[in-house]
Amino acid sequence: MRMRRKPNLEPRLEKCAAVTVGNPEEYRGRWRESFGGFEAVHVELGCGKGRFTADVAASAPDVLLVAIERDPSALVMAMELALSRGLSNVRFILGDVNTLGEFFAPCEIGRLYLNFPDPWPKSRDAKLRLTAPNFLRRYASSLSMGGELQFKTDNTPLFDWSVEQFSAEGWELRGVTHDLHANGLVGILTGYEAKFVAQGQKINRLVAVKRESTKTLADGEVPRLRNASLCDARGYEESLETNAKKKEDRS
Ligand SMILES: C[S@@+](CC[C@H](N)C(=O)[O-])C[C@H]1O[C@@H](n2cnc3c(N)ncnc32)[C@H](O)[C@@H]1O
Repeated sequence: MRMRRKPNLEPRLEKCAAVTVGNPEEYRGRWRESFGGFEAVHVELGCGKGRFTADVAASAPDVLLVAIERDPSALVMAMELALSRGLSNVRFILGDVNTLGEFFAPCEIGRLYLNFPDPWPKSRDAKLRLTAPNFLRRYASSLSMGGELQFKTDNTPLFDWSVEQFSAEGWELRGVTHDLHANGLVGILTGYEAKFVAQGQKINRLVAVKRESTKTLADGEVPRLRNASLCDARGYEESLETNAKKKEDRS
């Protein structure tokens, strides 16, 4: 969901110039060297207000973390947070995940983070899900061999559907779980995740590793979507029915 436009957005964006990359195409193939000789470059897709971005950057100062976000009102908050924490290893791109390949050279990224993307539950919107094959191939093209994509979502239907897509596209899956925090909080939480956890919702997570078998954009035409329906992919309809029944019982 797009945020309401922030007041004074333009001047606030301008004040964040030190962490903004306005011309990301110019750094294609030389991100690590251009920003101070970092060990690796990691990219967060759809960083929102940047809680996770700031905490991850603080935890790994030798890695350059580049966050991409298309909503300027969310982005400005993420950038202000990074600046307030004095982080020197994080940069932001106002842009669309769809154009990842224009910003990064093949195999340039060591790790991708994809946290709580919009689920696009209708079948006709399946291609917009950020784990649809057309996106997975973009990610694979920009990731190094053995590089990984870490994916978290509260949405179990989307998660199960995504597991199918990753597998069919030749990624190796590790640590697939429907309840990441079953035994206490694990890892760095995102803004959305913190809210869901506080509500007692379970968090799904997986790590997808790029292997020789992983399809990239170079493999040609992206296949037709396998099973676009999230409802078919898991017991979503069932959960809707259960919720409806609970409501009925209460009234
Ligand atoms: C549900 S929010 C999650 C934010 C954050 N990752 C978190 O977990 O707190 C999804 C974010 O992804 C951004 N987004 C969605 N599609 C995008 C795209 N194609 N390119 C860049 N950002 C995108 C949205 O603007 C939004 O800020």
